[in-house]
Amino acid sequence: MCGIVGIVGKPNATEIIIKGLEKLEYRGYDSAGLFVANRTSGSLVKAQGRIKNLSDKLTPDVTGTIGIGHTRWATHGQPSEENAHPHTSQSHRLVLVHNGVIENFEELKSNFLAADKFIGETDTEIVVHLIEFFMSQGLTTKEAFKKSLEEIQGSYAFALVDKEDPETIYVAKNKSPLLVGLGDGFNVICSDAMAMLEQTNRFVELVDGETVVVTADEILIEDQKGNQVFRDSYEAQLDLSDIEKGTYPYYMLKEVDEQPAVMRKISQAYLSQQGDCQIDEALLKEMSSSDRIYIIACGTSSHAGWVGKKIIETLANIPVEIHLSSEFGYNMPLLSEKPFFLFLSQSGETADSRQVLVKINELTYPSLTITNVAGSTLSREATYTLLLHAGPEIAVASTKAYTAQIAVLAVLAKALGQQKNRLVAKEFNLVHELGLIATSMESVISEKELIQQLVTAYLTDTRNAFYIGRGVDYYVSMEAALKLKEISYIQAEGFAAGELKHGTIALIEEGTPVLGIITDEITGSHTRGNLKEVESRGAHTLVIASEGLARPTDQLILPNVHPLLSALLSVVPTQLIAYYATLQRGYDVDKPRNLAKSVTVE
Ligand code: F6R
Repeated sequence: MCGIVGIVGKPNATEIIIKGLEKLEYRGYDSAGLFVANRTSGSLVKAQGRIKNLSDKLTPDVTGTIGIGHTRWATHGQPSEENAHPHTSQSHRLVLVHNGVIENFEELKSNFLAADKFIGETDTEIVVHLIEFFMSQGLTTKEAFKKSLEEIQGSYAFALVDKEDPETIYVAKNKSPLLVGLGDGFNVICSDAMAMLEQTNRFVELVDGETVVVTADEILIEDQKGNQVFRDSYEAQLDLSDIEKGTYPYYMLKEVDEQPAVMRKISQAYLSQQGDCQIDEALLKEMSSSDRIYIIACGTSSHAGWVGKKIIETLANIPVEIHLSSEFGYNMPLLSEKPFFLFLSQSGETADSRQVLVKINELTYPSLTITNVAGSTLSREATYTLLLHAGPEIAVASTKAYTAQIAVLAVLAKALGQQKNRLVAKEFNLVHELGLIATSMESVISEKELIQQLVTAYLTDTRNAFYIGRGVDYYVSMEAALKLKEISYIQAEGFAAGELKHGTIALIEEGTPVLGIITDEITGSHTRGNLKEVESRGAHTLVIASEGLARPTDQLILPNVHPLLSALLSVVPTQLIAYYATLQRGYDVDKPRNLAKSVTVE
């Protein structure tokens, strides 16, 4: 949610910032802007919309050896050019970019800045004015920056440049991600390492509350008390090819296609050929001795959580509850005596989930984060971490992270079951089953042409659509519907098949597409009955069924896989359905409107 980059010490700062912002566009694309400067002059350029609009506005004289840039997902203030970052102070001396939300911005405005004039409506503009206000009281830029941080409540990653010292970037973070990257004769800052990977692969993590003075030759980290902090850098385990589209038209298609490889990678990372699970013993002990696991997640990750619940309860016999992070923190249910908290978050930065983790830590309950991003906030703050090993996911609509979450949850469930000496877990040959999933995914992925034809036949011109199923097929229906609506803007709902007749069936009209998922032997025939009910009311039905349960009239047949893992396969055609429906409507698959990949505000 909003992306920040900055560089000091290279002559082509503009080009580096634009390239960095392009890599961060997944974090928001409502507007973008940059400030670059050298010793004699500075330029501020902003544009509404995509980074492309910003690059189109750049003229050859927009150059510098220092610069900061921003791509925005609007929170306070609409996505206009006025509200685009960077923001400047009253005298235009200070330039600031910000990722996060300042909660007490109105208070700050009335307490300190009653006389100031503001150009836009953002909370960020108030902060840059506030820094200048403290400078007018005799503080240096750094002192005024730190003093402002003391007054601010909320989440932030800030990068500040003072035009009178165009060789320094001041940065600070609290609850929003920010890294400093180290170069030879230059240094960079970024919200995500992938933005600056072309410049360096050595990064230093920052801790909440720290401020950093970044110049071309050094970085100076200070904690809240002003003590200097020394921290080793680390090498980013990312390859440029991981973050390039290659020959694919969209990241989403690349990421769908990568799923078989991700299944194999997870198997290699966590399972031995003998079926032993390589998972921290302390984690397994703590989890298996808990009386209830609370899975906390949002959106697609919560849908993966539902599938995980089924697998954990079956293999490990521990009750599991699924909660939406944004609800749980403020409406906490009565907890069991020995709860264990499992945070599912591909980004590891989701603010809704983090606010729960902060509360859980205060209550001193143990926790695990399952995430795709090593070193992310949720990973650092939970007791334990398991990585997804899915590689960077750049399309806003999650695909491979969802299937990776389910696969890692399956490994965890098996390990917990084995720890508890349960036969069902010991006999579950996960290495074999994940291998089968990978080859079956390949076979579904090779059906792109058929899926495209089905999209044309079923979803052209429709305003709404339903996915239905029971049990795990219902959980996949929720995810399938989210995928379809978030990128194609077809109003799609995932329903428990049996629930339709309790109200929602009233929405079925002549031609309404209803897509049924059938992979569960016990409930499959009931779902078929529900499909008949909607068909007789005019619905246009499409069936995605496992081979063993399929009928000759079914449109998409999936290879048979282990029933506990069926979601890993049945979700794949639904991802491709969403992809082709979006292409057909002419929308940007990777960057749907109003959304951002990493949701770092509540
Ligand atoms: C949808 C999607 C979102 C995320 C949700 C949580 O395709 O990706 O619903 O799952 O915003 O994000 P994470 O998993 O990063 O916590």
